[in-house]
Parts: sequence; C-alpha cells; structure tokens
Amino acid sequence: MAAHSQIKRAAFFLGKGGVGKTTLSASFALDAADRGRKTLIVSLDPAHNLGDVLGTRLGGEPLNVRPNLDAAEVDLPTWVKRYLDDTRREIKANYSYQSALNLDGFLNIMKYAPGTEEYAVLWAIEHVWCDLGGLYDTVVFDTPPTALSLRFLALPTISELWVAELSKLRASILKKRTTLLKLNPDAVVGASCVDPEDDKVYGRLSAVKQRLAVLNALFRDESFLALVINPDQLSRAEGARIREELDRLRIPISAVCMNKIGLPGSVDDGPGPALKGLPVFRYALGTANGTDTEKPSGLDLGDLVDHYTRGSI
Ligand SMILES: Nc1ncnc2c1ncn2[C@@H]1O[C@H](COP(=O)(O)OP(=O)(O)O)[C@@H](O)[C@H]1O
Ligand SMILES: [Mg+2]
Repeated sequence: MAAHSQIKRAAFFLGKGGVGKTTLSASFALDAADRGRKTLIVSLDPAHNLGDVLGTRLGGEPLNVRPNLDAAEVDLPTWVKRYLDDTRREIKANYSYQSALNLDGFLNIMKYAPGTEEYAVLWAIEHVWCDLGGLYDTVVFDTPPTALSLRFLALPTISELWVAELSKLRASILKKRTTLLKLNPDAVVGASCVDPEDDKVYGRLSAVKQRLAVLNALFRDESFLALVINPDQLSRAEGARIREELDRLRIPISAVCMNKIGLPGSVDDGPGPALKGLPVFRYALGTANGTDTEKPSGLDLGDLVDHYTRGSI
C-alpha cells in the first residue's frame, strides 16, 4: 500500500437499513473521543436520528456534545438548493447564450433530476472534509440507505470519466476555432477564446476535476470503511452486494461489523464467503435500545477504534 494511503481520518459505516449504522457510528465516535481523539460525527441520512441517539438536537454546523466530540446533521434540501444555486451562477458566468435558455425552468426540473441528491451529498461531504476536517483527528459519517450511499461513492469515479470526455470535447472545439482563425483571421470566432489556458469552460472543467480527485482520494485512500451486517441472510446479501460494488470502484473495505449477535432465531455463522478476508468485529444484541444516551446500546467499540487507529499515522 502506498505511504499516503496510511492517513485514515474519516470513517464510514455502510449497510442495510436497520442493521445499526447510526448506533455503531455514534458508539465509534464516542469511543474515539474517549480515547482523546478530537472527533466529529456527521449524519448524511435524510431521515436523521443521530440526534436522538446522542440525546441532543443537532443542526447543520458542528455542536459540541461531549468532551472531544462534535456532531452535526447535514440538511440535504439546503445542499440541493446550494448545488442548484451554484449551477445557476456558473451557467450565467460562463455561457453568453444562457438568455436563450429558460434557466429557471431548467433548474426547477433539475431539483428532481436523477443525480441531484447524490451530488448534494457529495458536496456536503466535501464541505465537511475540506472545510471542517482539518480541525479534527477523526471524522465519522453516518450514512444514508445503501442505494444513495453507493451512488455518492461512485459519483467521483463516474463524474471524472464525464469530465475527461467533456474536456476532450472542449479542447477539440478550441482547436477547430484556431484552425478557422488561421484560415480566416477575420472569422467570427476571433472574438471567442481559443487557448485552453484562458478558456472559462475549460478552466471550470479542470476545477471540477480537481474537486472530484480530492473526493476520490478521500473514499479510496483516506477513509476507514466499516460494513455493518446482522446475523441474517438479507443483511449479509446486501453486504456482499456493497463489497462487489466497492471493489468495482476500487474503494477498499476496512472491517466487517457483525451487529446484533444473539438476535433470537439467528445463527452466528460468520459474514459469509463474499466478505472473506476482512477483519470481523462482533457486537452483541444489547438491551438499551438507544435510550441510554451516555452509550447507545451500551456497545463498546474500543477494539474497532484501535483497529482504525493502527491504520492511521
Ligand atoms: N447491538 C444492538 N443491540 C440492540 N439494539 C441495537 C443494536 N444495534 C442497533 N440496535 C437498534 O436497532 C435499531 C436500528 O439501528 P440503527 O442504528 O438506527 O440502524 P441504521 O442506522 O443502520 O438504520 C435501533 O432501534 C437501534 O437501537
Ligand atoms: Mg441510520
């Protein structure tokens, strides 16, 4: 593994709804804070219940909830609005022909377009990681349901491919303008930009490429990904699907958390062949069911924090 990939400061808990992602994220953050790590926990789940688990009302900005522990809940509608406002500003600044476009109508449709929600989550993560992350030793993300999580984790990879193609297209437009100008120095394109260095659209694409590279590095190299399953067929199957998808994206899983061991009627026969080779941490079914605000479900995740810390420098 490359030396830079040893810097692991973010932690994501992924898995099927109800397996215990919020409970384990909160317990992990509490144990990291107890061990003296300055910790931030952020919920990305639109159906927030991190505040309930921590026994505090949370908002978009970090609130100190315990010694060494700050917490926040990302308000997704705010980030969708921010994303659309940024898009509007960019279109206005970069495209002289935008007056021909019904921009407001277009953005109203975009609010519900596929992709908008995961972009909003992605830029929220970027804000937490790039603007706030420097203040903490550990940033824990409590994730939304699997489908949305896999989409935002895939987005930097997919978008990088898009941006690369769009950059190529833009470069070839600029090259054609240059050729036209050579043939006819008085051509109308003379008023337009021909050099990628000065071209606003090309510059925007390069800036987006840089932002995506930072997020891809976060997911691939700087994050501790814990896959949460229960001793049941459905959550194991979803765990296997998550691993397959993350393998494709070249995002490594750091640990499997088998939660709710001892669930009546269940058999603890391990995480199954699809998750083979990953370190497994087991957590028993507790009795506190989230009402003990000092320690959700009374779980001790010290062993997982130690495993996480060993991967850090
Ligand atoms: N180890 C455990 N023992 C007892 N109850 C648990 C345990 N882990 C989670 N729970 C309970 O299971 C329910 C779902 O947990 P939650 O953390 O909200 O799941 P998710 O975030 O994955 O949807 C909650 O009521 C929570 O209190
Ligand atoms: Mg949850």
